[in-house]
Amino acid sequence: MMSAQSTPRKGSASGDDQTQMLVRKIPDGSVIDHIASGKALSVLRLLGDPEQNGITIAMVMNVSSSKMGKKDIVKVEGMELSPEQIQRLALIAPRASVNIVRSYKVVAKRNAVPPRILRGILSCTAPTCVSVREKDSAPSIFFISGRSPLRYRCKYCGRELAEKEIISQLG
Ligand code: CTP
Ligand code: ZN
Repeated sequence: MMSAQSTPRKGSASGDDQTQMLVRKIPDGSVIDHIASGKALSVLRLLGDPEQNGITIAMVMNVSSSKMGKKDIVKVEGMELSPEQIQRLALIAPRASVNIVRSYKVVAKRNAVPPRILRGILSCTAPTCVSVREKDSAPSIFFISGRSPLRYRCKYCGRELAEKEIISQLG
């Protein structure tokens, strides 16, 4: 007797199918999509303590994406991200999009927009910078100097922080 057995072909599922297999669609909440692979945990941190907020979170890491190669996704059930959270998200995951879901439908797609000015969030990496030597009288101020890749420039000494440095400071 012959038995027909289907062997799953490697890489046959598209990115979206792969995600659906791992995590179902959510009824209400936020789907943070297009997070660079490996950054989902940093994104989780900015959402606060799920237990305290009474929210359910699903995380998908390292799935295929046509735009990014590999990406992470964070799904937050029953919570819509605040503008402040979306701003902070922009620094950790500059290419992330936030999908607001109501009654299973995506009702809004917001791109994370990095703020023009950051006060007290990043630290200058120049050891001689006044914001490093005199932290209390000269709190850090950075101006955006590039968006893709993300860059910020110190107001005091002009030192630029690269995207990698920004992410590692906040992650
Ligand atoms: N999603 C979800 N639950 C829903 C609706 C959507 O988890 N009820 C998820 C989808 O699985 C997807 C993301 O939210 O990961 C965005 O959904 P959608 O806009 O429908 O997908 P795309 O068109 O592929 O998004 P984009 O163009 O931003 O890549
Ligand atoms: Zn500086």
